[in-house]
Amino acid sequence: MSALEKAFTSAPGRAISRKAGLKDPPRLRRGRSWPAGAIVLGTVGHGSLVADTLTLLGRTVESPVVDAGDDAPGYGSKIGALVVDATELRTIDQLETLRALLRPAVRGIEGAGRIVIVAREDVDGWEAASVARALDGINRTVAKELRGGATSTLLWTTGDTVSSDLMSTLGFVLQGRSAFVDGQAWHVGHAGDVHREFTAAPLAGRTVIVTGAARGIGAAIARTIARDGADVIAVDIPPAGEALAAVANEVGGVAVQLDITKPDAGRVLAEVVAQRGKGLHGVVHNAGITRDKMLVNTDAARWASVLEVNLAAQLRINDVLLDPETDGGLDDGGRLIGIASTSGLAGNKGQTNYAASKAGVAGLVQAMAPDLSARDITVNAVAPGFIETEMTGKIPFVQREIFRRSNSLTQGGRPVDVAETIAYLLDPASQAVTGQVVRVCGQNLVGA
Ligand SMILES: NC(=O)c1ccc[n+]([C@@H]2O[C@H](COP(=O)([O-])OP(=O)(O)OC[C@H]3O[C@@H](n4cnc5c(N)ncnc54)[C@H](O)[C@@H]3O)[C@@H](O)[C@H]2O)c1
Repeated sequence: MSALEKAFTSAPGRAISRKAGLKDPPRLRRGRSWPAGAIVLGTVGHGSLVADTLTLLGRTVESPVVDAGDDAPGYGSKIGALVVDATELRTIDQLETLRALLRPAVRGIEGAGRIVIVAREDVDGWEAASVARALDGINRTVAKELRGGATSTLLWTTGDTVSSDLMSTLGFVLQGRSAFVDGQAWHVGHAGDVHREFTAAPLAGRTVIVTGAARGIGAAIARTIARDGADVIAVDIPPAGEALAAVANEVGGVAVQLDITKPDAGRVLAEVVAQRGKGLHGVVHNAGITRDKMLVNTDAARWASVLEVNLAAQLRINDVLLDPETDGGLDDGGRLIGIASTSGLAGNKGQTNYAASKAGVAGLVQAMAPDLSARDITVNAVAPGFIETEMTGKIPFVQREIFRRSNSLTQGGRPVDVAETIAYLLDPASQAVTGQVVRVCGQNLVGA
């Protein structure tokens, strides 16, 4: 910690920053905790998808207060969440119903509470299409207006989506696992009418490879998915061997010292999987590097190293692990997860190489998802914003403090926040979620 950082985070330093109008950031709710207050279900139209999903999740619901005006009491005590079934919303007039549902809830929501809007993406007609898009604007704005660590999320479904498709996603969003996911929208399709469960150990007996697992986000992924029952194959470069072994021991997994850019990396990983003899449920391509410079100072070596580690290596590894002939390859019904970045999605000065690689990851998962759907393999990415790790610890303190506060939750995320989102995507119950890039950024203003 630099002298400046120490001064800033000391008691007098914090008092000065409060005087300057910088409030202490709100406490976020984390882990598998549900909201403390009631979950309120509102509907626009007569859709039952959300009610059925909440029943599957074992949640009881209360009825909404509608359009409590300035003087009306609204909710007597704070509510934990408002979940709106907007799957039958098609007209501008119906948006008024949504406004009337949201208005009292925005004021009545508890700290770290949730607003969730569930809507249909496959709607016909110009008005319905524009109204669907209006929901995106509403969600992003409500997320910015909420206080106290409460978040807002929009979930897109299709006419085929059933409650067992939506269950893991709605459970994730309502629970503390989604603490740093705010103002986001993603898609939940349909994955067949198989029985799925919402459990605390969804990865029990399943093997998952995590690259870059020696520290930071990768170590948090290893710990979080081990909590969820996974058998972890933890991968990192040989110089990080000691830290890697410590993480692997802690989670009861196996450490593999391997530079993922080695041409035979995929084969080495497949051999480890084959030796463990439990198949391969998932691969989390977390290893990543930055070599920041303005483009005018970016030479070919700086360019190549970042694209090699962050993008090309995972394509090569995927090629091997997706080959049905590979002993130790990815199982049908498996999971591939990439790590993008808000810098990649929005662009970031001094990071052309990194942005190329991270936007490339987003493009990769979107292209792969439909191609692998016949094997029930889902492919998704998580795009972290500012997360407190050694990588971001290298950013000068004042700039780091600005980055921390430049999101709706006014703080940096923790590695576990990224890890929880990955664990949700790895869950067998998340079968209906594929080709998505979920930002874990507290609604970062960068590219918001
Ligand atoms: N920290 C953030 O705010 C942030 C934001 C957006 C995206 N990300 C992404 O999240 C991922 C993890 O980031 P982090 O902050 O934990 O980084 P980190 O630097 O703390 O950890 C990265 C790990 O990857 C390993 N690694 C690097 N090159 C490797 C290689 N060739 N083979 C095997 N392992 C290799 C490193 O040894 C290290 O242990 C990266 O892909 C990063 O780009 C991080």
